[in-house]
Amino acid sequence: MKVLKEIQKRRTFGIISHPDAGKTTLTEKLLLFGGAIQVAGAVKSNKIKRSATSDFMEIERQRGISVATSVMAFEYRGLKINILDTPGHQDFAEDTYRTLTAVDSVIVVIDVAKGVEAQTEKLVEVCRMRKTPIMVFINKLDREGLDAFDLLDELEQKLGLTVRPLSWPIGMGQRFKGVYSLYEQKLVLFRPHGKQKEEDTIEITDLKSADLEKHVGEAAARELREEVRMVEEVYPPLDRQAYLEGELSPVFFGSAINNFGVRELLDCFVEIAPAPLPRITEERMVAPGEDQFAGFVFKIHANMDPKHRDRIAFLRVCSGKFQRNTNYLHVRQNRKMKFANPTSFMADKKMVIDEAFPGDVIGLYDSGNFKIGDTVTEGEVLHFKGIPSFSPEQFRYVNNADPMKYKQLDKGLEQLMDEGVAQLFIKEDNGRKIIGTVGALQFDVIQYRLEHEYGARCSYEPLNLYKACWITCDDGKALKEFLDRRRKDIARDKHGQLVYLAESAWSLKMARENHPRVEFHFKSEF
Ligand code: G4P
Repeated sequence: MKVLKEIQKRRTFGIISHPDAGKTTLTEKLLLFGGAIQVAGAVKSNKIKRSATSDFMEIERQRGISVATSVMAFEYRGLKINILDTPGHQDFAEDTYRTLTAVDSVIVVIDVAKGVEAQTEKLVEVCRMRKTPIMVFINKLDREGLDAFDLLDELEQKLGLTVRPLSWPIGMGQRFKGVYSLYEQKLVLFRPHGKQKEEDTIEITDLKSADLEKHVGEAAARELREEVRMVEEVYPPLDRQAYLEGELSPVFFGSAINNFGVRELLDCFVEIAPAPLPRITEERMVAPGEDQFAGFVFKIHANMDPKHRDRIAFLRVCSGKFQRNTNYLHVRQNRKMKFANPTSFMADKKMVIDEAFPGDVIGLYDSGNFKIGDTVTEGEVLHFKGIPSFSPEQFRYVNNADPMKYKQLDKGLEQLMDEGVAQLFIKEDNGRKIIGTVGALQFDVIQYRLEHEYGARCSYEPLNLYKACWITCDDGKALKEFLDRRRKDIARDKHGQLVYLAESAWSLKMARENHPRVEFHFKSEF
């Protein structure tokens, strides 16, 4: 019974945005509402500043911050809300994709002046693939930006979302007067710097009311009435089921830095966002309410202190109750493990916990036993699905730069790959190692960490590749023919799966045309 109650209390979500749209600021305001932090500025941005590419200490510092802010929990209206942090820097997009496997819903933050940006498109695509429920917060209304209807069009066209505005802005920038909450039928007047008072929220159930003129003036009242009429005509009504199925996205407008519009977003979120959802495994569906504990590792973080090689594995609890000092099965290694110091994270505080429930994320100290995607259970053999690797976008040959340290290099590379820093491919024809990453920054991170944590040195050689695609084929003869023909372009990933290294879009197209029986996949789970 207790477990079911705890599950119903949990809401686990991620905030995604293009860097600078306001993710950190919004997170902070949400934590302030929940009383998890008392002062603004307590949540450090985990942004890796553009200048950091050559500044390794900065990268290290940022890594520390991002451990601290990996999961932030707060209580609000009787619920326990877990925010999972997603790195904004695009070079760490893969980290974000994986974090999205551990959430039940997301909030997308859009900068009103910039509209939908590239990074957001990719991330929302991942959410759409999984039918993750999405809410949208359009931020920075205190500045001049795009027209609200144009923004909604962008959300539909670029992100493929069906949207439903639940609040509507009254002016913007200098003329920003506030929002009308269509969800709660209230007028909320804008006051800069979070100086909102109770009397600034006025119930107006009928927009024809002369109260509107009184508060926002004639012109703005007329405009609002006209725009809300259009909203009601053009957009479908809020249908919670459609939202839960990822088919309809409520949209809110506000200004995170001014703590404006955030409460409206949060109040709606706690009413409609899903409690922990079932998760699919290769064997069966796992429901949160099951008696037995099961969870999976979606992120691994190396210790900041190079003298201690241990790491923190972040595990999402999917079913049952997790308990400290209890024997659990590490499915891939087929062995029992106990966790003496599982931790939870609260803003900048870490705490050892005795128990955790579905929807929670816990940190497990790990001396190299975990890989991303690993399952831990009370005994059943399960493999959680949906934690794919994506085709990297940048590739380099990696060479050992210190012949005395090849063992250290191998070990370091293996562990960094387990952490998901990058992907390693080994060529079939000559056994050479290739590192594939999403962004160039990871190459520097790998080189630096190999040296500082493993005492190994590596050098890189440029390699011009377009994509690495995983290949499958149910016709053995056709597969053999393909492998023979393309021998120099074939490699294996860390699980031994076959990968085709395409030099260009054209060579991929030709390979597809000439080998129609072979299937090419852009992610490793298919
Ligand atoms: P991110 O995590 O998505 O990368 O964005 P972050 O919250 O760090 O916000 C990026 C910048 O946008 C910050 O300014 C922040 O203060 C500002 N910002 C956030 N919300 C609003 C808003 O509602 N209105 C306006 N006008 N600005 C907003 P910065 O100058 O880059 O950093 P800082 O020195 O202010 O911290």
